[in-house]
Amino acid sequence: MPKQKTGDSYSFSEQVLKWFKIHGRKHLPWQTDRTPYRVWVSEIMLQQTQVATVIPYYERFMSRFPDVESLAGASQDEVLQLWTGLGYYARGRNLHKCAQMISTQYSGVFPKSVDELEQLPGIGRSTAGAIISLALKQRAAILDGNVKRVLARFHAVEGWPGKTSVNKQLWAIAEKYTPNNQAADYTQAMMDLGATVCTRSKPKCSDCPLQSHCAAFELGTPTNYPTKKPKKTLPVKHTQFLILQNSAGHVLLEQRPTVGIWGGLWSFPELAASEDTHSFCEKNFGDIIECTAKPDFRHTFSHYHLDITPIYITIEQSHRFIADNDQQQWLPHQQWETYGLPAPVKKLLDAL
Ligand code: ADE
Ligand code: SF4
Repeated sequence: MPKQKTGDSYSFSEQVLKWFKIHGRKHLPWQTDRTPYRVWVSEIMLQQTQVATVIPYYERFMSRFPDVESLAGASQDEVLQLWTGLGYYARGRNLHKCAQMISTQYSGVFPKSVDELEQLPGIGRSTAGAIISLALKQRAAILDGNVKRVLARFHAVEGWPGKTSVNKQLWAIAEKYTPNNQAADYTQAMMDLGATVCTRSKPKCSDCPLQSHCAAFELGTPTNYPTKKPKKTLPVKHTQFLILQNSAGHVLLEQRPTVGIWGGLWSFPELAASEDTHSFCEKNFGDIIECTAKPDFRHTFSHYHLDITPIYITIEQSHRFIADNDQQQWLPHQQWETYGLPAPVKKLLDAL
């Protein structure tokens, strides 16, 4: 075997492999008797589920379906029954379908290339790479969530990995660092490094074999990578706040329903944005003194912007104009401060 070239790719995998020898996981159930079948089932189960949860399911699955033919011959119901509790049941259905395809199209023998494996249901490029490297011990890159995180941080890759261009960039990095030898150990090492050291929220950079060359560590901002999915532009809704004051300076507040936004808090009565304020006021308050709209301001919830038009209305009497009920109260200044108020309502009250 020719010696690998020196440079970045050499030292990266060397560091990772050296770390793996000491700290890597070597006794997981799917690491013994590593056949493509056993690796494949474990990779599918591990796609959206944690190792500790997967282990008992994996062992039950393997004792009932020890090989691809027994899985192919089972009913879908039985497969899904063994999947119960793992969630994401499309994985279980694809697993079953895939076993049947391997049985009929490949005579029960797993294909030996990433390209062929990728054609099968439920197997993406990374899972295919994991099967080839872990079971067949051949060079193949992987890029699962853990590896994506390590590589995005190591190179401080900007951009959301769900974007084709960023994904391509990360695959190119993954390919570059994947060594020619020790394919299985390297793959497992990268998964383990991501799962145990370069973790999502509190990476243990001081325990990391890549620290000295890691761009995100250098920048001091590992958790900025990988870049999060860009927020969708939020829809905009409009409403009018009716800020009613009587001649004594009391303000009308109403308690909102317990469900929905600002549940149970006290807010101003609202008028739909489509309603004409002046005709509404004329109809409801004969003794109206003043009715003034002020400029809109925006309050942003997680799912939409609410543009609020404050309407200041001064009247003589203490009307309850929508319904004479306990949900509406005229409150003097000292009193509303003891009520639960949404932030924009409090701001408007404080400015009165
Ligand atoms: N997650 C995905 N594949 C894994 C593996 N082989 N070992 C541990 N965690 C994993
Ligand atoms: Fe991740 Fe920190 Fe290691 Fe960089 S140094 S790869 S951020 S754990």
